[in-house]
Amino acid sequence: MADTKHTRTATLSFGDRRLDLPMMSPTLGPDVIDIRRLYAEGGVFTFDPGFTSTASCESTITYIDGDAGELLYRGYPIEQLAEKSHFLEVCYLLLYGELPTAAQMEDFENRVTRHTMLHEQIQYFFRGFRRDAHPMATMVGVVGALSAFYHDSTDINDPWQREVAAIRLIAKVPTIAAWAFKYSVGQPFVYPRNALDYAGNFLHMCFAVPAEEYVVDPILSRAMDRIMMLHADHEQNASTSTVRLAGSSGANPFACIAAGIACLWGPAHGGANQAALEQLREIGTVDRIPEFIRKAKDKSSGVRLMGFGHRVYKNYDPRAKVMKESADEVLELLGIHNNPTLQVAKELERIALEDDYFVTKKLYPNVDFYSGIILEAMGFPTSMFTPIFAISRTVGWISQWKEMIADPTQKIGRPRQLYVGATRRDYVDLHHR
Ligand code: CMC
Repeated sequence: MADTKHTRTATLSFGDRRLDLPMMSPTLGPDVIDIRRLYAEGGVFTFDPGFTSTASCESTITYIDGDAGELLYRGYPIEQLAEKSHFLEVCYLLLYGELPTAAQMEDFENRVTRHTMLHEQIQYFFRGFRRDAHPMATMVGVVGALSAFYHDSTDINDPWQREVAAIRLIAKVPTIAAWAFKYSVGQPFVYPRNALDYAGNFLHMCFAVPAEEYVVDPILSRAMDRIMMLHADHEQNASTSTVRLAGSSGANPFACIAAGIACLWGPAHGGANQAALEQLREIGTVDRIPEFIRKAKDKSSGVRLMGFGHRVYKNYDPRAKVMKESADEVLELLGIHNNPTLQVAKELERIALEDDYFVTKKLYPNVDFYSGIILEAMGFPTSMFTPIFAISRTVGWISQWKEMIADPTQKIGRPRQLYVGATRRDYVDLHHR
């Protein structure tokens, strides 16, 4: 954890003022200057829209080395987890900090599995949405509404209630996402099957129909499980910071996760997987790539290469590497050869990685570049891509939320501003304007 003794300082000079500010040392990553006393003692604010140089909290959960292209959950590299672990074990690791013993794993799986059903009345809530609602819109609403159905787990000051809320969210979000999908395609809701694993159960709830048996393919369920592991947490990204900010006021966990889902929806964040696949389809054929790359480099066009670039990774996103391998495996299994979208993706990646614009700006493919190809091959419409991201990220959000609530230094989030509006002026009556 941080160097709480503050043995080193950084000196800040401005005007005739000189302030010694404590330095904090992380276990990994750059040193941090503690500016908490800056306004009280120096009378100035710092300006950092988008938090590009600001650590908003201490955290022990996830670490990204953007230059090395490394992602660690509780210290474990994502590549090792993607190969050897499974999603519920990763959930345990993120929530509790250590890999579980066999007994702890069994107990955790039992607890999650027992909470997969939704209160029956929630069905009626679903039916209030327009038939063509985007599943993310439905998810924001239904997850937020959980606080209206589960009053016994909304007291954030009770550790037991916090724990139950965490388990409920991890267990129920796949059911909510699957039902949002079923509702949008006009099919009956499929109840969870607790004999299936987490990813398999989700696929079953999405693709089974009462009229016939649906057998989950273990390779597809493993690919889904891997997508979930790769998206499970990503330190203080926009949606996680939203969850923390919402939670900092004392709001209940269901409301906070609904806020995270709303933030995730944007195309610069979780919505990029849908946008990336739609863009690949729009390009359509390999010969149209150069024209498209020209547009992506021209700021006035308003076009960005979706699935490329990242605030923190200035090297290949390690999740994209695993995702690319998974995409090959899934397409092979499904016998999808010469998939035009995949061909465009591979060629676009090759050209972009050699192009001076993308190279100098260190724009590499991110996790969303390949995930859409796998999800499409599995039979999901693009509108379900971001809900699947939301299912996967729920454990990260709730782990970060729990960490924040238990942090004694936690305060309500309340950024300051650089005000550039009108100075004080007097009201003018309507007939004098
Ligand atoms: N295509 C073309 N140019 C780009 C792209 C892109 N995808 N991304 C960044 N740039 C350029 C940008 O125009 C800017 O150029 P300049 O320095 O000349 O002004 C420079 O690269 C830096 O971009 P930025 O917007 O200041 O960087 P950021 O850290 O604020 O944005 C990002 C990061 C992920 C929002 C951005 O790269 C982007 O919009 N990518 C496309 C959307 C995407 O794939 N998002 C998924 C992110 S990973 C999953 C997740 O976090 O949810």
